[in-house]
Parts: sequence; structure tokens; C-alpha cells
Amino acid sequence: MIVKLCNAHELPPENEMKAFRGGALEICVARHAGGMFAFDNDCPHQKAPLSSGHLDGTKVVCPYHAWRFDITDGCPEIAGDPPLVLYEIRQYDNEIFIKLPDGSEPAR
Ligand code: FES
Repeated sequence: MIVKLCNAHELPPENEMKAFRGGALEICVARHAGGMFAFDNDCPHQKAPLSSGHLDGTKVVCPYHAWRFDITDGCPEIAGDPPLVLYEIRQYDNEIFIKLPDGSEPAR
């Protein structure tokens, strides 16, 4: 399911993050090196809001326990930790869309 996430002017600036509602999910969008990356805003550890953390290059650092995940492939810094859930994100004209997993609940 493809849903509109926001308008392009609402995106965070380069090297920052911002959370948006995507269907029933909260999605964090990060911008780095001219790219856009979308992932679950809930940390895979204990669901802290990753948008309240910070970026260190391509790594998002969780605000609670400082676990780090790569925003380009979802990999955790420590092997064996659960990965970040990534979403496909695209811009069409001035609108930003993401692809949610099949079976996701629509926005309410
Ligand atoms: S909740 Fe994110 S590292 Fe613990």
C-alpha cells in the first residue's frame, strides 16, 4: 500500500530527522547526503522514538540507550540486535510517498 506521507516542504533539513504518520504507523524520515530515508520511528529495542535521537552520518542513534542503526540498510551496529524496519520512500512532484507493508491499516 502506497500512502502520502507529507509535502516536500515539510521534510526535515539535511542531516536531521522528523516523524510523520504513515497509515497506522509512525514513520521517521531522515535526510543525508542528498537522500531520503524512511524507517519505523519505534526503536527495535524498546520502542523509543528514534526521531528524538540524532544522526551520526548514516547512523541513527537512539535517544534511550544509544543503540545505532544504519539508515541505508537497517543493520544494527551490534550483530544480533534486531534491525531497523525500513520503508521505500519516493517524491512525486511536491509530495512524498512511502510504501507500507501489505496488510497495514489505513490512516484513521
Ligand atoms: S529503546 Fe532504543 S536503544 Fe533502547
